[in-house]
Amino acid sequence: MSEKTLKPFEGKLSGVIEIPGDKSISHRAVIFGSLAKGITKVTNFLDGEDCLRTVNAFREMGVTIQEDGTSLVIESEGISGLSEPKQPLDFGNSGTTTRLMLGILSGLPFFTTIYGDASLSKRPMDRVVNPLRQMGSIIDGRNDGNLLPLSIRGSKLHPIDYTLPVKSAQVKSAILLAGLLADGETRVTETTPTRNHTENMLKAFGADITSDGYTTTIRGKNNLHATNVHVPGDISSAAFFLVAGTIVPDSSIHLKNTGLNNTRTGIIEVLQKMGADIVIENERSVSGEKIGDIHISYSSLKGITIEGNIIPTLIDEIPIIALLATQAEGTTIIKDAEELRVKETDRITAVADVLNTLGADITPTKDGMIVKGKTQLHGGNIASYDDHRIAMMGAIASLITTNEVVIDDISCISISYPDFFRDLESLK
Ligand code: S3P
Repeated sequence: MSEKTLKPFEGKLSGVIEIPGDKSISHRAVIFGSLAKGITKVTNFLDGEDCLRTVNAFREMGVTIQEDGTSLVIESEGISGLSEPKQPLDFGNSGTTTRLMLGILSGLPFFTTIYGDASLSKRPMDRVVNPLRQMGSIIDGRNDGNLLPLSIRGSKLHPIDYTLPVKSAQVKSAILLAGLLADGETRVTETTPTRNHTENMLKAFGADITSDGYTTTIRGKNNLHATNVHVPGDISSAAFFLVAGTIVPDSSIHLKNTGLNNTRTGIIEVLQKMGADIVIENERSVSGEKIGDIHISYSSLKGITIEGNIIPTLIDEIPIIALLATQAEGTTIIKDAEELRVKETDRITAVADVLNTLGADITPTKDGMIVKGKTQLHGGNIASYDDHRIAMMGAIASLITTNEVVIDDISCISISYPDFFRDLESLK
């Protein structure tokens, strides 16, 4: 346990931050670099614990991956060069590693066992196991293969035409990865678009894939070719400073090289609708992904309703959006976000508990929450729920509390943002 006491803050935040690499894109760069024959160089890789689980998984399967801070050099013989891991693979806290690797391991000609920490062991895997079994995958585990640990006996996969019952990029990606290894054409349809980094990167690595934004079709059994990847800054990490800059009086923050893929920018739309002073500059495309710089300043805010198709584009930002909403005049309603119940922790319960402990007025609902603002937060002892995004939300909240905030354990922050406190201090 690593407790942290945060004293009340009286100044303003100002300065420039280079946001660390995107977690979703870093995972995918390692995956596709390892599946492609040749040498793939990755820059601005996120060296957080989750992405290192993916690196380790491929090392265990015989891929050479050299790491130098945020740069990786991946040298692989391609899909046919991967070998059976000698020991069970530990995926720690990483849902993305688990779900995407299930898609790949299903189609490789060997046996693997995978497991994770207490949080990951509670998260549902049937959402990927069911379609993968339809493709011919042989998976077993607790609760009929819904819960880790799981064992996978790779087999010959056949394509499917699948409509996603859950709004999940992880599920979509697992099926597309299995589709890459299957003989024929696999089709995945989603009714609400989710992040499309898998589709973008598969294209960059030469896969035969097409998408109209709702239905993605991949023709399997064609080889990927190595290509270099520069990872954009993670908008989900930037979100903490976007909110800090908006709620701490007189602040003005510049966030450089942040990913702006429109399947991820719901937080920007929400900030604009609530009345925040936000400017986007220097927009460009890097490795098939849109990036740019964001300038944010202190603003007065009004409550809004957040629901429907925007939800997957800000799903990981809802904890910090809830904090933002406590500082808006009026009521903010968040709906259609039932997926929050099965994240690293039940984030509906955790957000309401943590922010209400600090003096907020939040009512949790089945699929979201109702936040009444504006409230003066007063400080207190809070739990991180061992969830990186809850811990960082608590730390940002402490910037506007009247008394100190004590977070029971901040070690989880290294999952997605190891230098979070260094960056926060640099703005004070
Ligand atoms: C991710 C997708 C999202 C997100 C997670 C990363 C990904 O999960 O919450 O942090 O990299 O594909 P779901 O797709 O399950 O909603």
